[in-house]
Parts: sequence; C-alpha cells; structure tokens
Amino acid sequence: MSTYPTVPLIQYQEYPVEEMRQRLNDFYTDIDRRRTVRDFSDRPVPRDIIETALKAANTAPSGANLQPWHFAVVSGAETKRKIRLAAEVEEREFYTHRASEEWLAALQPLGTDDQKPFLETAPYLIAVFLQKFGKLPDGRKVKHYYPAESTGLAAGMLITALHTAGLATLTHTPSPMKFLNEILGRPKSERPFLLLVVGYPADDARVPDIKRKSLEEFASFIDT
Ligand SMILES: Cc1cc2nc3c(=O)[nH]c(=O)nc-3n(C[C@H](O)[C@H](O)[C@H](O)COP(=O)(O)O)c2cc1C
Repeated sequence: MSTYPTVPLIQYQEYPVEEMRQRLNDFYTDIDRRRTVRDFSDRPVPRDIIETALKAANTAPSGANLQPWHFAVVSGAETKRKIRLAAEVEEREFYTHRASEEWLAALQPLGTDDQKPFLETAPYLIAVFLQKFGKLPDGRKVKHYYPAESTGLAAGMLITALHTAGLATLTHTPSPMKFLNEILGRPKSERPFLLLVVGYPADDARVPDIKRKSLEEFASFIDT
C-alpha cells in the first residue's frame, strides 16, 4: 500500500438533525432566490468581496486536486469595452447565422439578443478559464484530469458565493469565446469556460418569468 502524508480532519462539523434541517432550509431558501440578471447597476463592489468569493470557488473539488481553472477579473473600463465589442461581434453572428432555429426558440423566453451593455456597466467581469494542462515548477507540462467537471464545480461555487454576498451574476457564454484569450493575455492551453458578469442589479431590473423543474422531475430515489 502506498503511503502519503495526512492531517486530521479537524474542520469537519456535524450538526444535530434538527439543526441540519434548519441550516439547509435556510440555505435553500436563500439560493432559490438566485436569478440570472441582465440589467446591471454601475455601483462599485469592493475588491475584497470578489477576492473572498474567488477563494470560496477555489475550494471546489477537482480531478486529482489539480485545480484546473484560472479566473481573470476585469474591472477596467478599457478592457470591459474591448470585451463588449468582441462579444457583440460574435453574438451578432450567432443570432443572425450561427444559432439553429431550435436554439433561438429555446432562448426566446429569455429575451436575449446581440446587445451586451452589461459587459460595460457591471463593475466586474470574471472570465473563467479551463486549463487543459498545468505546468510543474520545472516547466514540464502536466495533463489535467476532468478539467470541465472541475471548472464547472468551481464556477458554480463562485456564483453561489457571490449570491451569498448579495450580488447578482450573469453566466454569459458568447460563442465562440476565444477572443477572451487574446484580450486577457491567457495562453492557448486555456479554454474560456464562461464569462461571469458581477454586480448589483439595476433598480428597474426585470427577469424572465421561467420555472424550475420539481424534485420529482429532476431526481430519482432508488431505495432497493
Ligand atoms: C453554461 C451557461 C451558459 C449561459 N449562457 C448565457 C448567455 O450567454 N447569455 C445569457 O443571457 N444567459 C446565459 N445563461 C443563463 C441562463 O439563461 C439562465 O441560467 C437560465 O435561463 C435560468 O435562469 P436563472 O439563472 O435566473 O435561474 C447561461 C447559463 C449557463 C449555465
């Protein structure tokens, strides 16, 4: 059997079942209020809030603990403008040529189009990159395992952390997103995974009237 260094699991916390229920109900009530917002205010958000949310995201489990993600945090007006212009070029192409009729029909209830003013209005854009490979301290390349699953988990935790802080997010995926590598100076080995728009909602923000599936629709329980 191989040996490897370990430490005691001192951070684990168990709760009595009633407290477990209460904590989880509180969490569910709060996370159930999360909505994707597309109308942002330009009110500033303190940088340390973003940093703590990123640290929360970085606690995500990852294949072989290789943490195959990079978060590029953009707050400068010049870079936000570049991203908006490049995203709108791709989105115009998407809405007029690239998207299938079926895809456009699926997007219809969301009212999205090729205009992305929020990319300049919101105080922060966080570009999430998936790293297919990592680099050892000696420069050697190492393959990352399950980078998509891992980065998806980290992104979900980032959205949850930002929501917990009382901020709104938009998970944006202009397609394709390669322009983000160029604008943000990220290497080719990193794949843009999604662009998270972060800030306060505009005072008059509205959201699509859509429903979530019920537990019976999205989960099954096998007790035998
Ligand atoms: C992978 C992914 C990509 C998405 N891309 C976009 C996008 O490019 N533009 C957009 O307006 N919303 C985008 N969304 C947001 C979804 O439309 C939204 O999560 C969904 O309609 C459910 O709404 P809710 O988040 O308010 O519950 C994306 C969400 C995910 C998870």
